Amino acid sequence: MPDTTPTTSASIAKGEIGPGCAKTDPIMIADEITRSFGGNTAVDVQHVEIPRGKITALIGPNGAGKTTLFNLLSGFDRPNTGTWSFDGRTLSGIPSFKVSRMGQVRTFQLTKSLAMLSVLENMKLGAKNQRGERFWASLFPLLWRSQEREIEQRALDLLQRFKLDAKKDDYAAALSGGQRKLLEMARALMSDPQFIMLDEPMAGVNPALTQSLLGHIVNLKNDGVTVLFVEHDMHMVQAIADWVIVMAEGSIVAEGEPSVVMRDQAVIDAYLGSNKDRDLGEVVAEIRAERSASPAVDTAAAAKEQ
Ligand SMILES: Nc1ncnc2c1ncn2[C@@H]1O[C@H](COP(=O)(O)OP(=O)(O)O)[C@@H](O)[C@H]1O
Ligand SMILES: [Mg+2]
Repeated sequence: MPDTTPTTSASIAKGEIGPGCAKTDPIMIADEITRSFGGNTAVDVQHVEIPRGKITALIGPNGAGKTTLFNLLSGFDRPNTGTWSFDGRTLSGIPSFKVSRMGQVRTFQLTKSLAMLSVLENMKLGAKNQRGERFWASLFPLLWRSQEREIEQRALDLLQRFKLDAKKDDYAAALSGGQRKLLEMARALMSDPQFIMLDEPMAGVNPALTQSLLGHIVNLKNDGVTVLFVEHDMHMVQAIADWVIVMAEGSIVAEGEPSVVMRDQAVIDAYLGSNKDRDLGEVVAEIRAERSASPAVDTAAAAKEQ
């Protein structure tokens, strides 16, 4: 199990804790973001701040608007209204390829690896400065070649770190679903980002790979990278997240430390709709019992409660 250093909410939130609360050191700030499809409002976020250098989990039931919000904040979709900034620079209207050059990358819920390219070729596509490649190659062939070698070396190092080096020449199509998730995460790291957004990185990944994915996410944080990830499994969230943001029906309904958010009525309503009429204490006791049945998570939860 990855070593997680517990973070107190005092070091993350500034002032009162709640939906849209201010952070002591936000890497991203977004205001009045709305996105409708037809007459349906998929996202309506008044204000949100993502804490720098921490692991933040974005949770919420299916259809809550998590992926849509990711698409908007990463420049893959345009909102109807709203402004947002990354590291103090506005991102409104900036296309995704520029966003990633600025140091903010994301992965997709449904992986986007190119099936008929090799694993290594997929990795090289994740490198910065892909544009204008031919132009530079013709002007400075030696410099370009050395840059190519550097990119390849970085790709090989990352593949080794993600235990995919033996697969470097295989088509991405030949990888398992879990390996494709790892490849996508490794590829996102090719551009040496400061902020990575992972949309359900653990979904469809077998338990053996889940542990290593969790470890990779914690390692990113230890390297100073800010992580925002979407996850359904509360055990995973408890195990690695410093902070949790909860969405329901397009809006943020709760925020806080994982152990606190788990006890929040809005979260319980959003997740346990069918349990709404039951005693809250009983539901929480069940969640706790389930948690302590998993030793890996127990350790992290205990650490957080110290
Ligand atoms: N391209 C789209 N066209 C129409 N409706 C969409 C589109 N993308 C998302 N939606 C709708 O927006 C809502 C939020 O979806 P999504 O962001 O995928 O939720 P989540 O990721 O939290 O499960 C859903 O009602 C979904 O059907
Ligand atoms: Mg989604």
